[in-house]
Amino acid sequence: MTLRSRLRVSVVGIVSIVASCLTALAVTGTPAQAASSLPCDIYGSAGTPCVAAHSTIRALYSSYNGPLYQVKRADGALNDIGLLAPGGIANAATQDNFCLDTTCVINKIYDQSPRHNDLDIEGAGGAGAADVGAPANALPVSVGGHTAYGVEISPGMGYRDNTTSGVAVNGQPEGMYMVASATHVNGGCCFDYGNAETNNQDTGNGHMDAVYLGLRCEFGGCNSSGGPWVAADLENGLFQSNTGTQASDPGPGVIPFVTAMLNNNGQDHFALKRGNSQTGGLTTTYSGSEPTVKSGYSPLHQEGAIVLGTGGDNSNADSGNFFEGVMTAGVPSDAADDAVQANIVAAGYGGANGVPGGTLTPGSSISLRATTACCTTRYIRHANGDAVTSEITSGSSALDKNDATWIVRRGFANSSCVSFESGNYPGEFLRHSGYQLHRQPFDGSTLMASDATFCPAPGNTGQYTSFQSVNYPGYYLRHYDSTVYIARDGGGSNAWDTPTLWADDTTWEVTAPWA
Ligand code: AHR
Repeated sequence: MTLRSRLRVSVVGIVSIVASCLTALAVTGTPAQAASSLPCDIYGSAGTPCVAAHSTIRALYSSYNGPLYQVKRADGALNDIGLLAPGGIANAATQDNFCLDTTCVINKIYDQSPRHNDLDIEGAGGAGAADVGAPANALPVSVGGHTAYGVEISPGMGYRDNTTSGVAVNGQPEGMYMVASATHVNGGCCFDYGNAETNNQDTGNGHMDAVYLGLRCEFGGCNSSGGPWVAADLENGLFQSNTGTQASDPGPGVIPFVTAMLNNNGQDHFALKRGNSQTGGLTTTYSGSEPTVKSGYSPLHQEGAIVLGTGGDNSNADSGNFFEGVMTAGVPSDAADDAVQANIVAAGYGGANGVPGGTLTPGSSISLRATTACCTTRYIRHANGDAVTSEITSGSSALDKNDATWIVRRGFANSSCVSFESGNYPGEFLRHSGYQLHRQPFDGSTLMASDATFCPAPGNTGQYTSFQSVNYPGYYLRHYDSTVYIARDGGGSNAWDTPTLWADDTTWEVTAPWA
């Protein structure tokens, strides 16, 4: 090939590359984000940089390689939990090893942004006593095939930073989002993430600007779906719109992962968006003026503290799950918000972590089939918070199949045994209480750790598997009249301790998961 023909080939090549880029721009309207762009890369490129980036799950900048959070062990020792790789997922094994056979709480959540707005356990405020840290292993989830731990907030827990840098104050514009869960919510005030007062007191309307997810309907007339709903906590009001309510919004549904977003120009306009963090885009549930139903919100008077899991005055009666959240300087564009939602979906939030299903290896999704002759098509599922058996077939509803799916976790009280996390209620586990089995959020207590730990053994009938309670030796998981209990082989005080069919009723087949 001559020099001239080589030059012609390269010019043709360059022209065609430029042409295809221009075509891509014309089709999409905006340049595609690099595959490696994480939420704060996206917001930074869009001119609305993150001023806070918190997650116990993953890096929110592709270049981040610092600690995500700090755990505190029962003996007071501290350990930082970092990443598996720069820009990657939390190294949960560090926590597992450090907290082995003892308890840990999440003591601090580091800010990945250059602002260093780290969140510590919140102190006392106008409406609540000092908070405690969330149990560090209460909320195992899978992200991109790796197990990591979210922050499971129950009443009395919360995090805060009252001396921040770069966060909006006095009517400055800002945006924020959190990935939370619709399956662990309540009507208590207030599962918030965002801007709050710097003194833990209610200092008046407009002194907050935080995104909320939960069942609280402060102005009445909320959608009959029953929630949860996304709202803006602007102080003395959780606003779904300028009138307080957004009757047309059914909420995201009771799904395990929800993206909740609030953008506020601080002067005369705010917008709320929500999405399913596992699939699809964002829905704008409100975009319009600041609240008109009460005064004092236009402009806002933000003070620039950051709160997670409580109201501005440390109202801490709420429940919620937190996986990641960021705050920006300035209101992000819709395109940037859409790209962030796409990145959240691509991160792959899920329940199990890629371990093959149907085994008792931690991380595996399973279902548990009864083996008594009466009931061989019945599986353990939760219903209204209780563990029962019901018939599940391929024709069963998705809800029934989800309710009958459990994720095997390392036993809370004994790492050689197992705990069973609900497949559709992240952070909620099978535990016995009064000898009956229920689905409950892990509260970090030693009692619950034991009540939720079961040791697998060869089946009491000589086949399959039986599960012995770790704190009630001799008591095994048993179904009796369609309810699930721990039961002993005769001699107990409860009807379900009868020796009749005890071996059969305490023997389970560990099967592939229904969902
Ligand atoms: O706006 C709702 C709540 O009201 C705030 O979070 C809290 O500070 C106040 O009690």
